Amino acid sequence: MKSITVQQPEQLVIEDRPLPQPLAGEVRIRVVSAGICGSDVHIYRGHNPFAKYPRVIGHEFFGHIDAIGAGVPPSRIGERVVGDPVVSCGHCYPCQVGRPNVCSELSVIGVHRDGGFSEYITLPAQNAHRIPDSIPDDNATMVEPFTIAANICQQMAPGPLDIALVYGAGPMGLTTIQALRGVYGVKTIIAVDRIDERLAMAAANGADRTINNSQLDLASELHKLAIRPTLIVDAACHPAILPEAIGLASPAARIGIMGFSAEPCILNQQAITSKEITIYSSRLNSNRFPQVIEWMAARKISPEKLITHQFDFSQVIDAMKIFESDQKQCCKVLLKF
Ligand code: NAI
Ligand code: MN
Ligand code: ZN
Repeated sequence: MKSITVQQPEQLVIEDRPLPQPLAGEVRIRVVSAGICGSDVHIYRGHNPFAKYPRVIGHEFFGHIDAIGAGVPPSRIGERVVGDPVVSCGHCYPCQVGRPNVCSELSVIGVHRDGGFSEYITLPAQNAHRIPDSIPDDNATMVEPFTIAANICQQMAPGPLDIALVYGAGPMGLTTIQALRGVYGVKTIIAVDRIDERLAMAAANGADRTINNSQLDLASELHKLAIRPTLIVDAACHPAILPEAIGLASPAARIGIMGFSAEPCILNQQAITSKEITIYSSRLNSNRFPQVIEWMAARKISPEKLITHQFDFSQVIDAMKIFESDQKQCCKVLLKF
């Protein structure tokens, strides 16, 4: 089978690998379609601190089960499925409290173990989630990115009274905006980005108002509009954002972060405590696949709005280049296997 492997940083190849056989409790998926994510590019460029090389990348993938290991019901063969990249131990403290996404022995498909940019992949049977026939292949490929939004929303519990502010209108900000609008029905959504084309996508994905903070000072703009956000999601993940968000937030607001920057940022306790602000952090997803599949089946979210490009997997290097260099036109890129 063909697999897309990063042999070491900056060395991405399509190589022949032996067809993997599912172990007990595993299934094998014949991959049909897979999405490129910023973290795939980070592994390619050597900027992911968790990655081990060589690595087959890819953690957003859809396909059909074509083989099963011992103990897996034969009826699963032929199922259309998406793969949850979070592989956890099931018995550590985070696993016991329902947070396998931060398992002490966490192994992420496409990062710590071989991923879905491959004609075939094996994974634990419980990580392969069945997709109803009503959801087309391309939309199904988008389940994983929406689980990131589902995870942060699950923690922050958005509601109809909320005035939400979302920093960053990349795939993560856009999935969050769609969930806030289509699932949680928040009152107002403001999107903030530095790129006008991305802000146009934010509006098309459900933002009521957009602000380009490379042209306007965000704090004074919000002040002018008399807006005090009650729920702020940082999907841009620059270390300067959290201190700014604390300043902008309404009393009793919640702030959610999902960045991995190791740069320090300066916060002061008074700014947080005087308004009793809650700060959440969110990594990957804790068993959010069934929820997102329900959202898709019920048409509460529109994954097709994010898909801007498709390539045959043999064109992966071109696909990666467009994904990295054209943030104005390019959002989600799918590879076809
Ligand atoms: P992206 O790079 O496509 O989007 C980021 C957007 O933020 C861009 O449109 C950019 O113009 C904008 N931006 C950058 N600095 C800004 C600032 N100071 N103010 C306003 N906008 C700003 O990235 P993507 O894929 O949407 O991911 C966003 C972030 O989420 C990344 O940092 C990524 O590492 C993180 N992430 C975290 C996950 C988690 O589970 N915690 C999962 C996936 C991504
Ligand atoms: Mn991803
Ligand atoms: Zn665990």
